[in-house]
This record gives sequence, C-alpha cells and structure tokens, in this order.
Amino acid sequence: MNARSCLAIVLAAGEGTRMRSARPKVLHALAGRSLLAHVLAAIAEADVTATAVVVGPGQEAVAAEARRVLPQAECFVQRERRGTAHAVLEARAAIERRPDDILVVYGDTPLIRAATLRRLRAPLAAGAAVAVLAFRPTDPAGYGRLIIGNGELVAIREEADASAVERAVGLCNGGIMALAGVHALAILERIGDCNRKREFYLTDAVGIARGMKLEAVTVEVEEDDVRGINSKSQLAEAEAVAQERLRQAALAAGVTLVAPQTVFLSADTKFGRDVVVEPYVVFGEKVTVEDGAVIRSFSHITGAVVGKGASVGPFARLRPGTRLGEGARIGNFVEVKEAVIEAGAKANHLSYIGDASVGANANVGAGTITCNYDGRDKYRTAIGAEAFIGSNSALIAPVEIGEGAYIGSGSVITQNVPAHALALARGRQVIKEGWAKRLRALKSLGKKKAHPHG
Ligand code: UD1
Ligand code: CA
Repeated sequence: MNARSCLAIVLAAGEGTRMRSARPKVLHALAGRSLLAHVLAAIAEADVTATAVVVGPGQEAVAAEARRVLPQAECFVQRERRGTAHAVLEARAAIERRPDDILVVYGDTPLIRAATLRRLRAPLAAGAAVAVLAFRPTDPAGYGRLIIGNGELVAIREEADASAVERAVGLCNGGIMALAGVHALAILERIGDCNRKREFYLTDAVGIARGMKLEAVTVEVEEDDVRGINSKSQLAEAEAVAQERLRQAALAAGVTLVAPQTVFLSADTKFGRDVVVEPYVVFGEKVTVEDGAVIRSFSHITGAVVGKGASVGPFARLRPGTRLGEGARIGNFVEVKEAVIEAGAKANHLSYIGDASVGANANVGAGTITCNYDGRDKYRTAIGAEAFIGSNSALIAPVEIGEGAYIGSGSVITQNVPAHALALARGRQVIKEGWAKRLRALKSLGKKKAHPHG
C-alpha cells in the first residue's frame, strides 16, 4: 500500500471520429467490457485515493459507464475539445485538493495494468515532478516522441509538430503521466496552444517542468501495456493482446484449453478447477464455469453459470440467465435462455429452453421447444424433477409439467400436466391394412386418379 494520496484523472472526452463510429471511443468493447472499464479497473487496483473522469459534452453514456464501474468516480465535462492538458484542467477542483500524486490516464489505453501505474508513481516519491510512461512501438506513427538530451527527458514532441530527425526517434509517449501534486497546477497553467493543432498538449508538461528546473523522468514499459486505440485496426490488435493475457491467466489457473488460440474469453470469465474447454468456444460477459465442467467445441456462452461437472455442447448456445446444475448436460444445437436446469437434467439435442425451470434429472427429448412468447409477452415453463419430455414436443407457456410426468413425443402441451401422469396431445394413429397394395394395383390398371377406398 502506497501511503501517498493519489488522484487519477481519466481523459475520456474523445469522440469516435477516427473509429468511424457513432459510439464514443472509450465505450467500444474489448474482451467484453468497455475500454473505459478496463482503465478504471486498473486504477482501482493501483492504490488510488480519488478518481476524476473527464467526459465530452452530451456524453452522459460515458459518465454513466464510469459511475457504474467506479461509483465514487467524480465526472467533469470538457465542453470544448481543446487538447489533453485542457481536459486535465477540467478536473481542477480535484487537483486543488492537493493530492500527493496525480496520474493522468487516457481512456483509450485499456491494456494498462495496476502494476505499471504503481511503477510510474514511484519516481514522484523520490522527488520527480513528472514521470512519463515510455515505450518503443513497432510502428511509432501517431505517437508523441520522447526527446532525450544528455540522458534526460527534455521534451515530448507530437508527431504533427516533429521534425524529420525527431520523427526518427523510436522512444514514444505511452500517454500516461504522473505529476507531483505540489507542482501540477503551476505546470498545467503554463501550457499553451502554440502547435500545429492549436491544442493544449499535456505532453508539453515535460518541457515546462524542465524550464522550471524540475525533474522529468521516463519509465519504460512493454508496448502492450500502453497501446493507444485511435482506430478499429488498433482496437483489433488490442483485443488480440487482451485475449492472449486472458488465455494465459486461465491456463495458469489450471483450465485446460485444448487450443487456446481458438477460445475467446471476457475479462470477467470465471473458471473453477479442472475445467476443460475444447477448441472454438466463445465466452461472452458474465460467465462462470464451475469445477470439472466440460465445454465442447463451437459453443457460445453469455451470462451463464455452468455447474460442477456439467457438460455443454458441441454447438450449444447458453444465453443470459442460464444456470446449469451439477452434472447437467446441454448437447448439440440446444439454446437455453433465462432458465435453470437442475442437477443431472439433460437436453441433449436440438431444443429451445427459454424462461423455464427444468427439475433435477428431467430428460428433455430431442426437438423440444418451450413456446415462451406470444408476440407480446413472455411466459414461463416449469418442468418437474424426473419428468420425461418426449421428442419434438411443444410446451406452450405458461405451463407446468409435474414431477415424474411423461409427455408423449410430438405433443403440443397447452395445459398443466399433473405429477406422474402421461400426457398425449397429438393426432391418433390410423392403420389401413392392405391400403398401399390396393393403391399399386389400381395404378397398374392405368387409373390416373387412383384412390383405394377403405
Ligand atoms: C496522445 C499523446 C501522445 C501519445 C499518445 C499515446 C497528447 C497531446 N498526445 O496522442 O503523445 O503518444 O496519446 O496513446 O497528449 N482527450 C480529451 N480531451 C481532449 C483531447 C483528448 O479528453 O481535448 C482524451 C481522448 O479521449 C483520449 C486521450 O485524451 O482518450 C488522448 O487523446 P488522443 O486524441 O487519442 O491523443 P493521441 O493523438 O492519441
Ligand atoms: Ca489516442
């Protein structure tokens, strides 16, 4: 625990222009959560004592996301987008409370980790006024270059303002800066807008601190920690990094991923012990897979709890509100939504189970459909423990199938079925002995409209 107080300022006022999107940039999703949520999660783990989020005008959705993830976050609005330093100063009220350290984190840098933020703060405790996260990107295009003189950081030059020589510099600004609280306002207020974009650049803090005879330092990190997202292409690259981190964490926690590269996870996916995930599985948000469960190939799971020893797929879809009990089995081409499948119950083939409860050890036959929707409202189906639903049955909700009841195959069930009863709701079979033979005989006599009566 760091004894110094720390204010984190998250800049999230960007629009989605370069993303070619109507959605604010920081609300784009990475591994199942917003860019902003990733940044706030790292901040929450980095011994920060207060958080300010700067949002653009009319970006109520961004402020709402900030409050959802971190309810104590204070939101400030940057009415005009006049640069990163201008955005930081929108949080002036928080800066004036004089925290020991200030961390400025860009909302479009979602791969940042708490450990990296802690490393960046360390030089402040040792007396530096400014610390900048530095990295050497494979492609430096678009990043600010770190200008080093006599082994020390003297300035940051934005690409648009850089000379050819400066552009050749490989060391870049990761876009995360730590400022000593005592000097922050003095430095920020000196920043001007004399540059190509006529913006107030936070990056000028370095040159200004130098001019004030204060110390500015760099902390070098891996490219992956500070990848900034300005385009859909960079978003896809960051997704690949996030997925690789999540896969490695799952493997390290003992999950068997038969082909890790083909499994897609969410930042909040939770696994118990001895879980096996076969190739080609997608986990959306809010999924928990308990001990010993097996997720077979080509399954898509979102908002579900897969109980101990349960088995899912291949080719299964679990939608939000699904809870599978211990040892439950959901097989191929089965979709489950908002339904509890109790321990030992099975739906092995071609079914839709929505807004339902299926009791322990019940068997839902192939092709069973819970008809939960009448075009306006949704209704529930309750299937009792040990019940047996014959194949290709339609259960028209609201309806209850009692414990241990049997439903004959092909039934359309519209009324409740008492426990241990048999329900048949289908046309009765008719047999006409010798009928086919008579038909063929008539045809052979050349009768066009042959119909063997009786
Ligand atoms: C910025 C840095 C650059 C660095 C790069 C790292 C500046 C001037 N440049 O460039 O040195 O290499 O990040 O990714 O800081 N924002 C606001 N209000 C504004 C302007 C920006 O809130 O008026 C927010 C944006 O939403 C974004 C962040 O600040 O989250 C950075 O802005 P962006 O325009 O993406 O800066 P870059 O050009 O990427
Ligand atoms: Ca950026």
